[in-house]
Amino acid sequence: MATRTKRPLCSPQPRGTALRLRWGSPTGSRKTLWRRRSRIFMASPLASHDNSGFLTVLRECGGALFQGLESLTDCCGGDGTTARAVVEAFPQIKCTVLDLPKVIDNVPADGVVNYVAGDMFKSVPPAQAVLIKLVLHHWSDEDCVKILAQCKKAIPSREEGGKVIVIDIVVDSSSGPTHEAELLMDVAMMVMTNGRQRDETDWSEIFTKAGFSDYKLLKKLGARGVFDVYP
Ligand SMILES: C[S@@+](CC[C@H](N)C(=O)[O-])C[C@H]1O[C@@H](n2cnc3c(N)ncnc32)[C@H](O)[C@@H]1O
Repeated sequence: MATRTKRPLCSPQPRGTALRLRWGSPTGSRKTLWRRRSRIFMASPLASHDNSGFLTVLRECGGALFQGLESLTDCCGGDGTTARAVVEAFPQIKCTVLDLPKVIDNVPADGVVNYVAGDMFKSVPPAQAVLIKLVLHHWSDEDCVKILAQCKKAIPSREEGGKVIVIDIVVDSSSGPTHEAELLMDVAMMVMTNGRQRDETDWSEIFTKAGFSDYKLLKKLGARGVFDVYP
């Protein structure tokens, strides 16, 4: 795992990412350049990587995850590509995508998925299950607990089929060549976001702190883990 700073371990976390702490927040025309750069280097390649990865998830464990579900909210679901793939494979599921207004305002209505603009720290649209894919590794442990607590409020009890599906990086030192990629992703998260990569024990602690009673790691697909997390 990457060494983060030379600060004493007990000192408070500085606010902002390493990138911002070193170079400051972008201003004026630098802001446009910063945005354009993050679109080119982050948004588009990440989206294609994430979207192709999701087809593997559907193939490998789609039945276990989605069979029998009536409704699903994709929390931070962006332009709805993931949600539309779920509806195509499981047409009985009513899908809602939650994302920030600046994202949702630019997504055309498609008649397949319901798009909701909002803030996951304030509320998540209710559904039988909430999917949160490749989001939490961008956030600190504290923020993950807050986000997952909102996801928990959105779902019914376990007996009524309530669950949160977490798809995210799970660091595993026994995963051979993939482990190197996992550690590189950890460095990327450290520099660009307030997040980090986590092993199964870290995830388990976060689920418990957010108020969940149990979880199952259904599958490890490369660096990604697919979890069912129960209220
Ligand atoms: C890594 S991206 C999308 C990940 C997506 N689930 C996937 O698998 O492709 C993170 C998304 O979170 C959204 N987001 C960030 N903060 C948010 C918030 N407070 N509430 C809702 N969405 C948020 C961003 O707009 C962005 O679309």
